[in-house]
Amino acid sequence: MGKLRPLTESDLPLLLDWRNDPAINRYMFNQRPIQLAEHIKWFCRAAQDQKYTLLVYENNGAPLGHVNFTEKPDSGIAEWGFYIAPDAPRGTGSGMCTAALRMAFLEIKLRKVSAQVLAYNERSLHLHQKLGFQQEGVLRDHHFDGSHYHSIHCFGLLAHEWQSNSGTQK
Ligand SMILES: CC(C)(COP(=O)(O)OP(=O)(O)OC[C@H]1O[C@@H](n2cnc3c(N)ncnc32)[C@H](O)[C@@H]1OP(=O)(O)O)[C@@H](O)C(=O)NCCC(=O)NCCS
Repeated sequence: MGKLRPLTESDLPLLLDWRNDPAINRYMFNQRPIQLAEHIKWFCRAAQDQKYTLLVYENNGAPLGHVNFTEKPDSGIAEWGFYIAPDAPRGTGSGMCTAALRMAFLEIKLRKVSAQVLAYNERSLHLHQKLGFQQEGVLRDHHFDGSHYHSIHCFGLLAHEWQSNSGTQK
């Protein structure tokens, strides 16, 4: 079982390799390759802004994935995003997301975690359902990737829903 720790500047080159890998990038809303300077700028800005929680998931010291929460000011509601190392073993996403939800509800004390998932991202759709998220709607043809339109599935998980079905996830 891995654990989460804060993202640091020394993680950025590795994180950028994962983020720009075609196996990861194709499921992101912004699929333009990201440059290191832009990536560092994003980190420096986000690290100083309390609405962001930026995390690395690791097992025995080996980084395996990244999770972030972006909280709407003074609401206790955050949208999350995540990706794993392209060569991470099967089950990494489930372990990482389970640990991240535990942190979200028990440590950050959020009331709700929400997500937006591109309709063709079957693994993420399945993962959100498995983690107990409710599908709250579908934004039809709501994302244009430069050549095609894609629908977006909106998910939400409330703290009390997580509490009541997290017996096996805690
Ligand atoms: C989404 C992601 C984090 C999942 O990580 P992972 O390590 O592959 O996930 P797991 O191995 O824990 O599998 C999650 C579930 O998806 C299932 N799954 C795997 N491939 C699947 C597919 N093609 N279609 C549907 N379900 C699939 C697995 O069987 C597992 O479910 P189960 O436990 O009921 O068997 C990872 O694939 C990733 O980083 N993708 C790119 C970035 C991304 O999509 N981020 C989320 C944006 S919303």
